[in-house]
Amino acid sequence: MAAPILSVAEAETDGEAVTAEPGFLAPGAAPYGNFPFYSRFHPPEQRLRLLPPGLLQRLFPPEGSDARPLLGLDVGCNSGELSIALYRHLLSLEEGEICSVSARDLRFLCCDIDPALVDRAKKDCPFPATMSFVTLDFMDPQTREPLLRSFLNQFGQSVFDIVFCMSITMWIHLNHGDNGLLAFLAHLASLCRYLLVEPQPWKCYRAAARRLRKLGRHNFDHFRSLALHGDMADRIIQILTKDHGMELVCCFGSTSWDRSLLLFRANQPSEPTSSQ
Ligand SMILES: C[S@@+](CC[C@H](N)C(=O)[O-])C[C@H]1O[C@@H](n2cnc3c(N)ncnc32)[C@H](O)[C@@H]1O
Repeated sequence: MAAPILSVAEAETDGEAVTAEPGFLAPGAAPYGNFPFYSRFHPPEQRLRLLPPGLLQRLFPPEGSDARPLLGLDVGCNSGELSIALYRHLLSLEEGEICSVSARDLRFLCCDIDPALVDRAKKDCPFPATMSFVTLDFMDPQTREPLLRSFLNQFGQSVFDIVFCMSITMWIHLNHGDNGLLAFLAHLASLCRYLLVEPQPWKCYRAAARRLRKLGRHNFDHFRSLALHGDMADRIIQILTKDHGMELVCCFGSTSWDRSLLLFRANQPSEPTSSQ
């Protein structure tokens, strides 16, 4: 019998927050949260409206005419809709505007584990000179380290100015357990000056694990034994601030599907740890 078809909304939320598009996707086919049309269900605008205009200028005041490019990393970029919208939003570019005279030079490296999604992002990106999309399993240090180093080296930098980690923490946690999530956060903390995180709340974990189990996937069986659970935004705040010395700068409020946008600052940017 064919696997039941469920929507991304059912798979990643508890089915309350977003209207599902029936017959869309079997989540068993998207074990990393690699939903092909994710942005239709969680539109970028819903997240971006929470980020104040002029954020980039506030975080990185201009340093003069020869200021170096600012470097951003989007981890788990899917097919790039949110990455592109973030890029526009940070540079205050209108829809259809490709560059603005007043804009800072901003370069984005965007990565995702799913090559088909990355191919779509590359094809659809209106900023090919300043945004790069690459296939990368961020949890694999052997491929991650040379790739990130080579990008940063082009600009003579050792860390990114800002890293985006939007709606991916749950998928790392479900696929790699508590230790995987801890290693992921440790690595992010060592890799940037600012970190924007949108954690999925615990109710999404229950829904994702239950539905994947129903479809016969048992990879998430350790879900029941996760010691890190409950208020995941608070857990992540505690880990980043207490274990990694980051400072919580701001919580930009919650989306209509109950996810908060948390901005952290690294107190002392350090050399990234390659073993994590
Ligand atoms: C739920 S989507 C979020 C997409 C986008 N960040 C957003 O918020 O609109 C999670 C994305 O993380 C990616 N992902 C999951 N595990 C990953 C890993 N280990 N390395 C890189 N990408 C990963 C998935 O392929 C998926 O595209």
